[in-house]
Amino acid sequence: MSPVHGPGPLLGRIGAREPGGHAGAAQGDTPTRTQVAIIGAGPAGLLLGQLLLRHGVDNVVLERQTAEHVLGRIRAGLIEQGTVDLLDEAGVGERLHREGLVHDGTQINVDGVRHRIDFKALTGKTVTVYGQTEITRDLMEARAAASGLTVYEAENVTPADFQGERPRVRYRHKGKDKEIECDFVAGCDGFHGICRQSAPAGSVQSYERVYPFGWLGLLCDTPPVSEELIYNRSARGFALCSMRSPSRSRYYVQCSLGDSVEDWPDERFWDELKQRLDPQARADLVTGPSIEKSIAPLRSFVAEPMRFGRMFLAGDAAHIVPPTGAKGLNLAASDVAFLARAFLEFYKENSPAGLDHYSARALARVWKAERFSWWMTTMLHNFDDAGGFDRKVQAAELDYVLGSRAASTSLAENYVGLPY
Ligand code: FAD
Ligand code: DHB
Repeated sequence: MSPVHGPGPLLGRIGAREPGGHAGAAQGDTPTRTQVAIIGAGPAGLLLGQLLLRHGVDNVVLERQTAEHVLGRIRAGLIEQGTVDLLDEAGVGERLHREGLVHDGTQINVDGVRHRIDFKALTGKTVTVYGQTEITRDLMEARAAASGLTVYEAENVTPADFQGERPRVRYRHKGKDKEIECDFVAGCDGFHGICRQSAPAGSVQSYERVYPFGWLGLLCDTPPVSEELIYNRSARGFALCSMRSPSRSRYYVQCSLGDSVEDWPDERFWDELKQRLDPQARADLVTGPSIEKSIAPLRSFVAEPMRFGRMFLAGDAAHIVPPTGAKGLNLAASDVAFLARAFLEFYKENSPAGLDHYSARALARVWKAERFSWWMTTMLHNFDDAGGFDRKVQAAELDYVLGSRAASTSLAENYVGLPY
């Protein structure tokens, strides 16, 4: 899979600046001391790093992969106003405001009949289409411009001693063992990361639901079928018509968990998608060769708490939502907002209050997004084991949501993002 844009000079960059003035003894070209060691250069880690750099808090980001690999992952596409505001606060909103597509509402096709939920009319708020790859690229460029240090291809990253006063992170880079001492560790290393796994045995309570299907996504350089996203419920399964730009479309179809991308040549994908659309969308759909195709399993997962001594989890490291409703990246952003404010309170006001409240504050919002994503998934997908009663209740739920202003407002309020 190739990235949408090449990462250019960001690839594997090692900087040497120490903005917080905490440089320890030199270790080749990497420091031995920082204020916040951030593990993971996904959107959570890079955004946290940027917010802290802007306020003079020194940080180092350690990433297992190359910058090119991180930029090549096609993931989220839709962001809440709160996420837009946070990216502005981090100083990386300029291209987003120029190229992002503001959407006032969304469309829902139920068994061939299209409905519309008007976010702006119901909540006064909108959402923005701007891909995760673009956000990541903007953050990488801003970090390079601020001389923030990111160590790509850091192997065997291991947080240690975070239950005490002097945490450290060990890693291996270019064949050499390294160590950074820090005040805090931020675990922004995604669902399969090391930080959650490093929490003391018995200290993590996990809550999980695994869904009996996946999403097959296809990216294509064709104009989107509609100006707004279309969520499709059909007897053949769920489908989503989304986009990245006026000339780049992103489509998803619900697929079996056992399916692989090889089972889905483009022709089969387009044929199946068309059957799940309403007649107008079927007529309007422009197909073309895929430029990326991938399958994601659907899972709800929360780990509690999100703090272990001086180590804090943020984003997918602590929780996963099924993609229906586009909450994953937005939740990573709200965690980062709480965590960045907490670190700034600690460093600028000498108060640990924000850090002490971080886990409870973040989890209160996480669980509401978990509920919404589970609800949207349940309402719009085909469950093979659903009986007649389940199917009737699902149909009634949709009928109610689309027919009641109060229920549509509830969907819209959650979709545009709950406040934080
Ligand atoms: P990540 O993006 O996972 O970043 C974590 C980073 O940590 C990675 O770069 C990883 O390489 C690094 N890392 C991991 N382990 C280590 C280690 N041991 N040492 C150092 N670095 C490490 N959300 C939506 O809203 N809409 C979508 O359509 C959507 N589609 C998705 C499709 C897929 C296949 C996946 C996996 C997720 C999708 N999501 C979607 C969710 C969204 O992309 C995530 O919520 C978002 O990426 C979370 O950001 P993050 O920074 O917390 O984690
Ligand atoms: C996208 C993904 C989603 O899960 C969603 O609800 C909306 C948009 C996307 O990738 O474009």
